[in-house]
Amino acid sequence: MAPPAARSLGRALRQFVAPPALTLTALACPAVPGATTSATPDPLVERGRYLIVVGGCNECHTPGYVEAGGRLAEADWLTGTDIGWQGPWGTTYPANLRRFIAALSEDEWVHYARHVVTRPPMGWFVLNALSESDARAIYRFVQGLGVAGEPAPPYAMPGVAVDTPVIRFPDAPAE
Ligand code: HEC
Repeated sequence: MAPPAARSLGRALRQFVAPPALTLTALACPAVPGATTSATPDPLVERGRYLIVVGGCNECHTPGYVEAGGRLAEADWLTGTDIGWQGPWGTTYPANLRRFIAALSEDEWVHYARHVVTRPPMGWFVLNALSESDARAIYRFVQGLGVAGEPAPPYAMPGVAVDTPVIRFPDAPAE
């Protein structure tokens, strides 16, 4: 809870800001039917955005997202990272999903997402569990962001040295 002084400052700012903002909106939207509406937004795009956020995809696939407390512009989302995840499986890098999805058709993505098996720490089983419509939603949202960023570094086999920072998993406990 914000301290009382901050709260009343917030109230004061809102009171100050709200009327001019309303006036501007009113000026920008003349009351001519149809004049301000563009094509109806695709509800699947908003659903895809929601799934990406609550699915935690940005935590690994977006550089700096966790450090910024999730407050990063969408333009910077899902471009992949060059921080390796290292463990008994070798070193994996969260893929650049903007490029990955751009290279597939929507139907290819739906099939891929529901059958893929990858290496840790990617929860491929999360993708497998997507309903068809949720898989389409993710595709449309990420596709709509456009291609950005570089491809992530390639996977390295166990024991192969890499020159990026890594997050190291402990070795599997002995049986
Ligand atoms: C804990 C970190 C982490 C989270 C969270 C995560 N990923 Fe990943 N993801 C990875 C890593 C690491 C790879 C690379 C795996 C490999 O090389 O086998 C990857 C790979 C992928 C790939 C490409 C796989 C391939 O075939 O190259 C897709 C697509 C993907 N992730 C989608 C997602 C989506 C969608 C979400 C959210 C629902 C998500 N990821 C959440 C770490 C993560």
